[in-house]
Amino acid sequence: MSVKFAVIPAAGLGSRFLPATKAIPKELIPLVDKPLIQYVVEEAYEAGIETVVLVTHAAKSALENHFDVQYELETELEQRNKLALLGIARNTLPAGMNIVSVRQGKALGLGHAVACAAPVVQNNPFAVLLPDVICYQPAQNATAQLVAAYAQHQTSVIALQSVPPSEVHKYGIAGVDEAGKITQLIEKPAVDKAPSNLAVLGRYLFTPRILQALAQTQRGVGGEIQLTDAMQALLQHETMRAATFTGEVHDCGDKLGFLAATLTFAQRHPELGAAFKAQLKQALME
Ligand code: UTP
Repeated sequence: MSVKFAVIPAAGLGSRFLPATKAIPKELIPLVDKPLIQYVVEEAYEAGIETVVLVTHAAKSALENHFDVQYELETELEQRNKLALLGIARNTLPAGMNIVSVRQGKALGLGHAVACAAPVVQNNPFAVLLPDVICYQPAQNATAQLVAAYAQHQTSVIALQSVPPSEVHKYGIAGVDEAGKITQLIEKPAVDKAPSNLAVLGRYLFTPRILQALAQTQRGVGGEIQLTDAMQALLQHETMRAATFTGEVHDCGDKLGFLAATLTFAQRHPELGAAFKAQLKQALME
């Protein structure tokens, strides 16, 4: 069975990024010239996903609007013959892709957000992409790597990346055996308790059984329904594989991570890159 659904949880409070996120959803903050959420929707599309399930919140309807028709803007651009801009405005959602939104009334945690997508994904495997984590690997994007691994093994697959020992306490860390199977998952362990330095980075591919596990998951750390707890429970019933991701990973939900990502993406931008690099060089000399 191929993977046609991706769940993008975007109903969180974005409190680490206040005041920017008081009225604007964190997922709409632009990385150079494109909102974070659009990068992950495009990543899903390139991986062959047909339907995105956006988990959103009453205060974040701008997220749905970003992927909808903006009739007034499009008519104006058309009348002014600004066709390149019209194309950009129209193609926020890749052609042929469906987007469905479901609401998470209260931010009860990432696990709860994923469970909100159950009525749409039903009995199908699905990817999960955290929209504040931006991955970059042009040869094969992170979700495409997971989809390929699923096609081979038909098991849940989790993208992992090695982090320095000093960073281990900030992440969900996985133990992995020699065959590439996940043996253990621990949320934010002390470095001496960690089974490895392989961190869960925010790209997952699940069999639908994770939804059963989530339905039985009680509130955990921070009073939230944690995805990691449901994954740990799923491990008792199913094999879960690791996929090591070697591309760039940017935590854009964190102010410093976002600034670093902006520097990297701006320098790489096809139209702005060269001029930006020159300005950066100048600024560093001052
Ligand atoms: P984060 O923990 O990074 O986002 O969750 P947050 O809760 O919005 O941020 P802070 O910690 O308050 O700054 C990763 C993704 O999961 C979504 C968030 O919107 C984010 O994109 N999420 C998180 C939900 O959809 N629902 C939740 O209950 C929690």
